Amino acid sequence: MKKLIFFLLITLTLSACALKTERLQNQADAWKPGLGEIMGVIQQHHAKLYYSANAGNWALAEYQVGEIQEGLETTVRLYPQFKEVKELSVLVPAATKDDMEDLSKTVKKKNINEFLTAYNKLTDSCNACHNAANRGFIVIQTPTAMEFSNQKFEP
Ligand code: HEC
Repeated sequence: MKKLIFFLLITLTLSACALKTERLQNQADAWKPGLGEIMGVIQQHHAKLYYSANAGNWALAEYQVGEIQEGLETTVRLYPQFKEVKELSVLVPAATKDDMEDLSKTVKKKNINEFLTAYNKLTDSCNACHNAANRGFIVIQTPTAMEFSNQKFEP
């Protein structure tokens, strides 16, 4: 009898914990930004990276590379799996790891020609991942005009 009561108590406690965990998980899901929002922020840093490197503002460029990297890591952390696209956790690093490293090196070297090559490669990889994720209609390109006139890009 004692054993039975003990067992019942354990079962009750465990199911209460499971319920609470599920509630917390639901709350966390409600608060997390959508993948489209995270990507929108990555897009801003992608543009700002171009403006700052072209203006020779390598400190700002380095900052933007870091922000893109953070955005990609947030993507993997919050959406290791996304809708019908399985394994974003594999796709993102596969598409971007090498390019991000190259890009970072060219920024540290402050070499605009090498930067432009690495920048194009990253942009191609953004699009390769969009293709792999059934989002081939989202096409990223090198900025063709200046945005963010409220921020100074010249050093
Ligand atoms: C998994 C690989 C993956 C990589 C790498 C990736 N994206 Fe995305 N991106 C997605 C997915 C998936 C969506 C669609 C999200 C949705 O359906 O809500 C998306 C959406 C977007 C959007 C659409 C937002 C909008 O509102 O129009 C932009 C912009 C974007 N990505 C920019 C980028 C840029 C810039 C890079 C590279 C620096 C990049 N993405 C790299 C998967 C990726």
